[in-house]
Amino acid sequence: MAADCNVVVLISGSGSNLQALIDSTLAAADASKSGPARIRAVISNRADAYGLQRAQDAGIATRVLDHKQFDGREAFDAALIEAIDAYNPQLVVLAGFMRILTPGFVRHYAGRLLNIHPSLLPKYKGLHTHQRALEAGDREHGCSVHFVTEELDGGPLVVQAVIPVQSDDSPTSLAQRVHAQEHLIYPLAVTWFAEGRLHLAAQGAMLDGHALPSTGQIIRT
Ligand code: GAR
Repeated sequence: MAADCNVVVLISGSGSNLQALIDSTLAAADASKSGPARIRAVISNRADAYGLQRAQDAGIATRVLDHKQFDGREAFDAALIEAIDAYNPQLVVLAGFMRILTPGFVRHYAGRLLNIHPSLLPKYKGLHTHQRALEAGDREHGCSVHFVTEELDGGPLVVQAVIPVQSDDSPTSLAQRVHAQEHLIYPLAVTWFAEGRLHLAAQGAMLDGHALPSTGQIIRT
């Protein structure tokens, strides 16, 4: 039986992706699957993040590291590394963690740091992705899970969920449908990683020993 994959999740807000991960790891543990992801801790840079409550309700350890208490990004990220590494994670998951990370932080977790972003990367890095997709007249939109590298929202893609944009969509309605897809693809990617099926190689993201396409695996609904 494969060893558990310790996961630390970083959040800043509602934590609905965290909830999807909690639900999927609990379901896998119930089914006694080998090598499931185990969320050891949830760390937030905001004390009022609702995701902290979700973690506590699931019996998961929580920590708050308020970036405003630190003298700059380097100091914050150094403290964050210390807090994360106390849990010996094989995987660190950014789930709505709204901080730009230093190159040193990203290098420290090279190959074991995943992020989810609400657009079909490389389109719409940064903020207001749903509004930007609507303004551009895109027929399709979605979300992406990727390995984190030093380029903001730029690392090798693992999986993308693609949905059609409807003619009457608003940024809010589009965000809701994209969010529902995020809750499917993030647990999928984390499970792949925990099962040892997904890793980052020199040529990019690999699944089951094969290089993934530059879009990652595409899931269409
Ligand atoms: C998600 O939509 C996630 O894709 C986005 O923040 C939201 C967090 O929601 N992340 C980014 O924009 C990162 N660049 P949640 O707290 O309900 O999971």
